[in-house]
Amino acid sequence: MYFKTKVKLFLLLNFFAIALNSWGQANSFKPGKIWYDNSQVHINAHGGGILFFDDTYFWFGEHKIEGEAGNVAHVGVHVYSSKDLYNWKDEGIALAVSDDPESPIIKGCIIERPKVIYNEKNDEFVMWFHHELKGKGYSAGLTGLAVSKSVTGPYQYIHSVRPNAGQWPVNVKPIHQQGVPETTKDSYCGGPECLPGNIDTINILGRDFEKGQMSRDMTLFVDDDGAAYHIHSSEENSTTHISKLSDDYKSFSGEYVRIFPARYMEAPAIFKHDGKYFFMASGCTGWSPNSARSAVAENIFGPWKELGNPCVSEGKETTYNSQSTYILPVQGVEDSYIFMADRWNPKDAIDGRYIWLPIQFNDAGNPYIEWIEEWSLEIFDNK
Ligand code: DGJ
Repeated sequence: MYFKTKVKLFLLLNFFAIALNSWGQANSFKPGKIWYDNSQVHINAHGGGILFFDDTYFWFGEHKIEGEAGNVAHVGVHVYSSKDLYNWKDEGIALAVSDDPESPIIKGCIIERPKVIYNEKNDEFVMWFHHELKGKGYSAGLTGLAVSKSVTGPYQYIHSVRPNAGQWPVNVKPIHQQGVPETTKDSYCGGPECLPGNIDTINILGRDFEKGQMSRDMTLFVDDDGAAYHIHSSEENSTTHISKLSDDYKSFSGEYVRIFPARYMEAPAIFKHDGKYFFMASGCTGWSPNSARSAVAENIFGPWKELGNPCVSEGKETTYNSQSTYILPVQGVEDSYIFMADRWNPKDAIDGRYIWLPIQFNDAGNPYIEWIEEWSLEIFDNK
């Protein structure tokens, strides 16, 4: 908690500097407040993720419109760029929804949590996103693929898939391969209240073996060796899957693992620190916030050990009224990571706010997140 005292001191000393910044450039993060882009418009990149490329950060996220209508996709994926993480330039729509009724990404479908990674081999930007078909609620459980030669796009939509069709995970259990009970349904409500505590008894994994596993909330992670992973809520949201992507990042390699069975985690985010993998996620309560989860592993395919709620200050039961979306390693500052989350507003989707907080580490080397009203990157110098 030495870091905590230093943080308070730092905030006090920097209060005047932050308040007196008179040239219109932001130089601090104010979690939950309106965050203006270079055109003085609230940033519209919800459920987002960030790619650092060529000395610039690119923030991709869901473009939302006003009202409840904004809970489905009317525009597409928005992208912003920044050199300093405080000030963001509107770079337009990276992936646009389609007007063609035949297109799976027709206006009115669901496009959530887009993430972009750079594939060196093909010199190509690869976007994956949670995709649901228009008018079908959250039943399709697809992940969509779009690619571009330019980081800000336009991205070309390729297709949407259910991952790992015809493949068993590396930790498949005999019960999964022994058949699916007749009572197992084709779809469930997606929450813990609709499924048994032991998810394996109804064998959703086996049910979806041929057509591919469900993929809802998702993120991407590129490891130090260049291997990329697609991490998603699967099996009716009950269980998380970590799947290795192919070398070009455009398909699933077939190698995957099931983690946290029957723990109903959404909003996965992952980072690597001190040679270990850390995972953060939410519980499963729709647009309403809940307590965050965290976990650690020596190997990305596990075993994973849960570490509990990483949030520690007042508001920790609701992740400070937000839900994780991405964990951003700050460039050029070792061991510095930003927890990025969304404060959803499903009644007026465009007014969703961004909760960015620094990740701190306790004496055991495990991450925790404290609420801070206003902070800047210098906080990481005080580690
Ligand atoms: C929680 C998910 O994390 C969000 O991305 C969104 O899918 C909502 N559920 C919809 O209720």
